[in-house]
Amino acid sequence: MPKIVISGRGGCGKSTLVTLLAQRLGEEGKVLVVDADESNLGLSAMFGVEPPEKTLMDYLGGKPVVGKKLRAMIKSDGNEKVELFAEKMNLDSLPMECVRRKGPIVLLRIGKIEHSMEGCACPMGAVARNFLNYLTIEERQWVLVDTEAGIEHFGRGVIEGVDAILMVVDPSYEAILLAEKAARLSQEVKKDFGVVLNKVDEKTEPILKEKLAEKGVVIKGVLPYSADIAQANLLGGALKLGTVREELDRIVSGIK
Ligand SMILES: Nc1ncnc2c1ncn2[C@@H]1O[C@H](COP(=O)(O)OP(=O)(O)O)[C@@H](O)[C@H]1O
Ligand SMILES: [Mg+2]
Repeated sequence: MPKIVISGRGGCGKSTLVTLLAQRLGEEGKVLVVDADESNLGLSAMFGVEPPEKTLMDYLGGKPVVGKKLRAMIKSDGNEKVELFAEKMNLDSLPMECVRRKGPIVLLRIGKIEHSMEGCACPMGAVARNFLNYLTIEERQWVLVDTEAGIEHFGRGVIEGVDAILMVVDPSYEAILLAEKAARLSQEVKKDFGVVLNKVDEKTEPILKEKLAEKGVVIKGVLPYSADIAQANLLGGALKLGTVREELDRIVSGIK
């Protein structure tokens, strides 16, 4: 299951799970982490690295240039070949200025909101979708896509080029409703779907499990509330597998 989108409501722990999962999968192969969240800035800090020099959006010429190409693509309706990327890419052929490497982990950012009134973030979604479609993955390679809050990426078609959607569910009624909806949306596009419970304790875990089972949502793993994770994130420090290694082992077996 090589290309996985990590989805979920704001603050549920998407970036935390992406960081821990990348470290765990990095023990078995190469992992490309795609930061497709146009707002949040802290993902590279969670890995303990500086952000890549350029976003993919900047590399492609910036939002106005990309917007023009996208409009041409829509206008040509498939008759004329207008592409964002000249050729297929793999984990070793990504533009150098767009990646930051840490051992087996490669970090890439799609694009960030940089200016007031710059317009909507749809071009970021289109870049992410095209990039994921153009990216080829080999054995023992994974792509983890960290996303913005909510389910906008379903609408934008970012999930088109991925194999599975993993939704992070924190102990809240809203997260249960969102998981039920995302399960249905995933079914519509025939993508594998499952959830990871996050920030749970002995009281909330059984309730969440029961509610999700009632709705037929598949649970692929559980990450308990961890004071170490909360502290590291608060200080802007790198996250370590540390005390949650066993949980990550189980999540990895759940998604394989
Ligand atoms: N398992 C966990 N235990 C404790 N705190 C967590 C856990 N997972 C996430 N958090 C905290 O929740 C907040 C949001 O996490 P983050 O991964 O940034 O969420 P998202 O990417 O979904 O917005 C952070 O302050 C983080 O430290
Ligand atoms: Mg995040």
